[in-house]
Amino acid sequence: MHFETRCVHTGVNKDSAFNSCTTPIYPSSTFAWDNLQGHRGFDYTRSGNPTRAALEENLASLEGGISCRATSTGMSAVLTSMYLFQPGDHIIAGNDIYGGTYRLFANILTEQGYKFSFVNMRDLAQVRAAITPQTKGIWIETPSNPLLNIVDIAAVCEVAKSAGCITIADNTFLSPYLQRPFEHGVDVVVHSTTKYLNGHSDVVGGAVITRHQAHADRIAYMVNALGLACSPFDAWLVLRGVKTLGPRMEAHQRGAMAIARMLEKHPNVERVYFPGLESHPQHALAKKQQYGFGAMLSFDVKGGRPAVEKLLEKRKLFQLAESLGGVESLIEYPDTMSHASMTQEARRAGGISESTLRVSVGIESPDDLVAELKAALG
Ligand SMILES: Cc1ncc(COP(=O)(O)O)c(C=O)c1O
Repeated sequence: MHFETRCVHTGVNKDSAFNSCTTPIYPSSTFAWDNLQGHRGFDYTRSGNPTRAALEENLASLEGGISCRATSTGMSAVLTSMYLFQPGDHIIAGNDIYGGTYRLFANILTEQGYKFSFVNMRDLAQVRAAITPQTKGIWIETPSNPLLNIVDIAAVCEVAKSAGCITIADNTFLSPYLQRPFEHGVDVVVHSTTKYLNGHSDVVGGAVITRHQAHADRIAYMVNALGLACSPFDAWLVLRGVKTLGPRMEAHQRGAMAIARMLEKHPNVERVYFPGLESHPQHALAKKQQYGFGAMLSFDVKGGRPAVEKLLEKRKLFQLAESLGGVESLIEYPDTMSHASMTQEARRAGGISESTLRVSVGIESPDDLVAELKAALG
């Protein structure tokens, strides 16, 4: 079955009692055994639940994996994936990864004995140079947040394989509709389902998808042991959201491209960060490894913070909010919002200036979005 068909149907039809066309929500925390010899596949919802299993079957199929565990948040998915390693292991990650992931790696897991190196992952020489005999994993996040840098997934996987490392990719920014890391050699895929997979800004959730049985077993064991699985109701919402993933991503991308083209020509814009523009330094790589350019973009306005504030005062459709991937367009200021946990020095070193704004383009009419931003830019 094609991708869009699997979005709608895979895992969904589970109701043998009444043949309901959508998956029932099973809120039950516990399931009765028929006798001491067995039960009907589920005994306790922390360990497994039919509604959550339906979502897991769907997401495993969309990414092309063999197994999925749906978790309570994207961060619990990231954390679970780190249990493929042990304290003392060394993991290489990009220096422009999501701030929450950076905090987990650099603060919490480092305190527990894990070792991390944060490098510019666009430069393979830096990745190779960071490898030590203790290196067990490489963390890939592409495109990066908020400047939309692209990591060459296949090239990093080759480096990882030659060093005997596991590769884990956070595929939140594009969703499996636009990028499937397993096709480029990645071992484990992680998502914040809060974003495009659910798509309606009304759930926080995550997923870990694996393609090797040993990884699948370890992830399932840890999600149960740590109690990180998502609730049946949240699983149901994500399963409902994912059915429209394809058409939503197409609409998101249409709007993003229209906005990026307008911004590129606007006299009050200094620079646009969007891999779909030919001017993006990694446009060719994005075209090669992605099935589209996504709908996250950033731009620098001319005139620094006063110009940013002026623009924000004039917007109505674009809500001033963090997060991304929902049907409604959001705009945010990384300097004091999404990237406030980084030091100013780290933000400037990473290329985030006091003029940078990040946009998550929704599925509204591109004409309305372009008109509003254009007017707000003056
Ligand atoms: C790329 C990426 N990964 C992981 C997360 C964490 O997800 P959650 O907020 O669902 O815990 C986020 C959240 O913004 C994200 O942008």
